[in-house]
Amino acid sequence: MSSPPARSHGELESIFAEVEAPFAFVDLDAMGANAAAMLGRAGGKPVRVASKSLRCRALLERVLRADPGFEGLMTFTLPETLWLAEQGFENLLLAYPTADTGALGELALRSVANPDGAPIVMVDCAEHLDAIESVLGAGAAPVRVCIDLDASWWWLGGRVKAGPKRSPVHTVEQAVELAREIERRPQLDLAALMAYEGQIAGVGDRPPGQRLRGAAIRFMQRRSAAELAERRAAVVAAIRDFAELQIVNGGGTGSLELTGAEDAVTEVTAGSGFYAPALFDHYSRFALTPAAGFALPIVRKPSAGVATALGGGYLASGGGDPARLPVPWLPEGLRLDAEEGAGEVQTPLLGAPAAELAIGDRVYMRHAKAGELCERFDVLHLLEGGEIVDAVPTYRGEARAFL
Ligand SMILES: Cc1ncc(COP(=O)(O)O)c(C=O)c1O
Repeated sequence: MSSPPARSHGELESIFAEVEAPFAFVDLDAMGANAAAMLGRAGGKPVRVASKSLRCRALLERVLRADPGFEGLMTFTLPETLWLAEQGFENLLLAYPTADTGALGELALRSVANPDGAPIVMVDCAEHLDAIESVLGAGAAPVRVCIDLDASWWWLGGRVKAGPKRSPVHTVEQAVELAREIERRPQLDLAALMAYEGQIAGVGDRPPGQRLRGAAIRFMQRRSAAELAERRAAVVAAIRDFAELQIVNGGGTGSLELTGAEDAVTEVTAGSGFYAPALFDHYSRFALTPAAGFALPIVRKPSAGVATALGGGYLASGGGDPARLPVPWLPEGLRLDAEEGAGEVQTPLLGAPAAELAIGDRVYMRHAKAGELCERFDVLHLLEGGEIVDAVPTYRGEARAFL
């Protein structure tokens, strides 16, 4: 699929002439091009869709319907998972451990009703196993679990560690020990292993204006990918000696071609790449088409060269660096004010086009991350062929705030 045309400010203004700002939108042509590109990069491995990065039921359905290469969802909380299951979504893998005993009780009921199709939940220690078992009655069906293997990269004898601080299960021995513990418990069924290499999938290796940092990231990612491929294969082989692992999941938008190429991996995950938020502009391995944005109205002109928009302070989660700020998109050439950034009630915009903007005009921005945009808006306006074709509720629009 060829890339859809880049949109101009004028085009977006005429498309959205009747829509009151602030509003958020998704360009389905761009999202489709991103989806096709990600399937290509996954090299034939099924791609599980990360719900946290879309946070919109209608778009999750659309992605899963669009191509059989997308299989199942990676979910982010147990209440969300149960809600999606109620709505008819199948093949759900909850990627983060839960301590919610009420929701675990509901999961247990689902597991009785559908032992092979109930959601799979994440575990990385015996306490997680105890929590699940604590809600199961004597005759309950087994609950399916997935071991979260730490995919971080340890260098210089562990003095340098790169990667998300998640699971304590890092070595083959630790993984085998937890797998055996699960096997000893008849009400738990070891169905899957997941190892998410956030230091590769979620870190752009071409940070703008930071050549040295980029080189260091590329070095780390090369070494980490090689180390993980070996360790992941060893863990999978060792567990498969005594347990059937149906699923070996790994990867994310930023690592599809690397993770997908590992024989031990049965499926990869992608989410952010559908919307292609600003943090995903800075990778050497691929280019995506911006597919999601939001519009803010200009409401004041503090001086001739400044146009100030209403609201806009939709910061992304993470390390708190300036890359977490939203990015002015159209008209091209706008920038945030270094003092104010993107504010709770107003966002001053500087740069040459600011002088041309008048009260009532709209500016178009992109979020740094993907699904978090949906926590700010009830509705996503959908574009196709340069026209508004639908407006669909986000999770928030369905009164569902999970995190
Ligand atoms: C476990 C796990 N897998 C995969 C991903 C990749 O998601 P995305 O494609 O949205 O970057 C994430 C993102 O944080 C994750 O936590």
